[in-house]
Amino acid sequence: MKHKIGLLGFGTVGQGISEILLNKKDDLKKKYGFKYDIVAVADFKFGNVYNPKGLDIALMLKEASAGKKFSKDVVDWDNHKIIKKSNTTVWCELTYTDLQTGGPAIGHVKTALESGKHIVTSNKGPAALHYPKMKKLAGKNGVRFMIEGTVVAGTPVINLATGPLAGCNISKIRGILNGTTNYMLTEMEKGMSYSDVLKVAQEKGYAEADPTGDVEGYDARAKVTILANVVMGAGIAIDEVSCEGITKITPADIEKAKKQGKRWKLIGSVEMKENKVEASVKPQMIDLTHPLAGVMGAGNALTFSTDLLGDVTIVGPGAGKKETGFAILSDLLAIHREG
Ligand code: HSE
Repeated sequence: MKHKIGLLGFGTVGQGISEILLNKKDDLKKKYGFKYDIVAVADFKFGNVYNPKGLDIALMLKEASAGKKFSKDVVDWDNHKIIKKSNTTVWCELTYTDLQTGGPAIGHVKTALESGKHIVTSNKGPAALHYPKMKKLAGKNGVRFMIEGTVVAGTPVINLATGPLAGCNISKIRGILNGTTNYMLTEMEKGMSYSDVLKVAQEKGYAEADPTGDVEGYDARAKVTILANVVMGAGIAIDEVSCEGITKITPADIEKAKKQGKRWKLIGSVEMKENKVEASVKPQMIDLTHPLAGVMGAGNALTFSTDLLGDVTIVGPGAGKKETGFAILSDLLAIHREG
């Protein structure tokens, strides 16, 4: 079967997955029998385009990097029409995250699933706010709602927990889920000021469009909510996760931790306690001997506490164009494998 892919959003991640698919086209076919066409793209800046036989993605990447609108295969269909009427089999929802309402991504996800088309997404909105409902809707329509890219980009935490670790009972998940704040804490430890380091994190592209989402812990809280619901089946809402960011950490706090052989980290945690899930995001002083203490810069890491293996820690990148693009590819390949 040839996958007919649609992309909602042609920003960093949309361009990232397009480049990967283009560069690996032959390899993916040879190794996994994965054949595809990208047939539709909907982007509010570059326009909506559709060609049932496949778009000229190389040209579109050139146009986007020059800041130009798409010139070929332009249609005047809105996003919902293009989702429904195109010959797409799977849609990658890669528009901006809105953690208040989930929109407009949530509307795209619903329309695609109701039209019997798979969804692969790195957008935290639909996953953090509506995971149980969307999963059910996907099941009802015989398609998949895939969200690996919503937590720690392409570092395979959701697939690890639900795949290889499936036979274990996971009682606790604890980790560094936000690259911006981890980078800031790392640099503040070296003596840089909070405001200077936030500026650098923005320049490096780690921070959200509005960095309040990073420094106040809201981005990590969305990821904690997703982990609680997907890995532990908690059925909790995002506002049930207590949340404190790094804005109150002072140079004196950093010194205090150093003296105690510890280091500040913004820790997201989900724990099963007497059949109840407790979830939080808060800065914690971590002993330097713990694997999470060694994760510096924009790195992310998660420790799963399990009954059969004890602690399993995975460390990897939590953001980036090719890193998040890879998450999308891994979900596309999973759909290909499992049908
Ligand atoms: N702003 C996020 C971070 C990007 O710093 O981790 C990935 O969600």
